Amino acid sequence: MSIDRRSFLGLAAGLAATAGLGTMPANAATVARPLRRNIPGTTEALPVVGMGTADTFNVSTEAAERKPLGEVLALLLQTGGSVIDTAPSYGSAEAVTGDLLRAANARDRVFLATKISAKAGAPAQSQFAHSLADLHADKIDLLQVHNLIDWQANLRWLRELKEQGRIRYLGITHYRDDAHEALEKIVRSERVDFVQVNYSVAERNAERVLLPLCEQRGVAVLVNRPFQDGRLFRVVKDRPLPQWAGDIDCGSWGQLFLKFIVSHPAVTAAIPATSKPRNMADNLGAALGRMPDPGQRERIAALLA
Ligand SMILES: NC(=O)c1ccc[n+]([C@@H]2O[C@H](COP(=O)([O-])OP(=O)(O)OC[C@H]3O[C@@H](n4cnc5c(N)ncnc54)[C@H](OP(=O)(O)O)[C@@H]3O)[C@@H](O)[C@H]2O)c1
Repeated sequence: MSIDRRSFLGLAAGLAATAGLGTMPANAATVARPLRRNIPGTTEALPVVGMGTADTFNVSTEAAERKPLGEVLALLLQTGGSVIDTAPSYGSAEAVTGDLLRAANARDRVFLATKISAKAGAPAQSQFAHSLADLHADKIDLLQVHNLIDWQANLRWLRELKEQGRIRYLGITHYRDDAHEALEKIVRSERVDFVQVNYSVAERNAERVLLPLCEQRGVAVLVNRPFQDGRLFRVVKDRPLPQWAGDIDCGSWGQLFLKFIVSHPAVTAAIPATSKPRNMADNLGAALGRMPDPGQRERIAALLA
């Protein structure tokens, strides 16, 4: 969805208010849209802040549980956000995502990523069929080999799915630093469109080799665990936001953490997870306004050192 500049500025103010931030970023008037990055080798651009669904979208069919998640999705859509990451192993998250997308008639407006975590062959095929059914989708934008499970055979099959037009991009994921070497080897030896990896102000290992390698090889990067599953907020609890956060249009710790990530040039999008509209509005604000330069990135990291 593309919205005009005026609507966006209204929305930015609304997001700031929803997030309780009081004001929109100081120079939001110079920003017509959230920051986007191209998928390398294509002209397709993705907004740098998307959303994950692990735990947060694993809810029952109770309307009371789903309503706030519908609002979380609506906020993503209203800002032209699009990347949604889910997985068949996230309990009911795929089905909840699929139902909410259908209710919002929004399948065509999102970049939908899911994963394969079954052994290659019949188990993987059956898992993919279930994902399509749960997501109410006939096509997936990005299918990823989850945590490198049976990755060689699964990657071969993902290539076939891509050739058949059933998925648009293929990728690999992991969430731990000790898997980065394995990811690096695959990026060097295979053609993958996306790598999804853990990277945050407190987990910088990906910066050493993997992120520059992805940049060099033209591989898109999704960043998972941007808040270390919420741990980062507990670390800064009771600490005031540094005053200089305003210099990069950050009104919250969440925005500082996310801007640290998305200002890395190799990163295509971060996928923070939240169950709360207020936090979604906060996270989406990280795609607006000024981004930290290398010196400011180090200053953010030093706060958590
Ligand atoms: N191997 C893999 O492929 C892999 C592994 C891990 C994760 N992932 C993907 O990455 C996504 C994100 O990682 P994650 O789920 O580990 O967690 P995360 O995004 O690092 O952190 C989520 C936690 O942060 C809280 N939160 C979010 N925004 C906030 C804000 N603005 N202010 C305060 N608290 C906030 C959420 O609580 P509230 O609900 O209260 O907002 C939640 O507890 C996952 O959902 C999944 O899609 C993939």
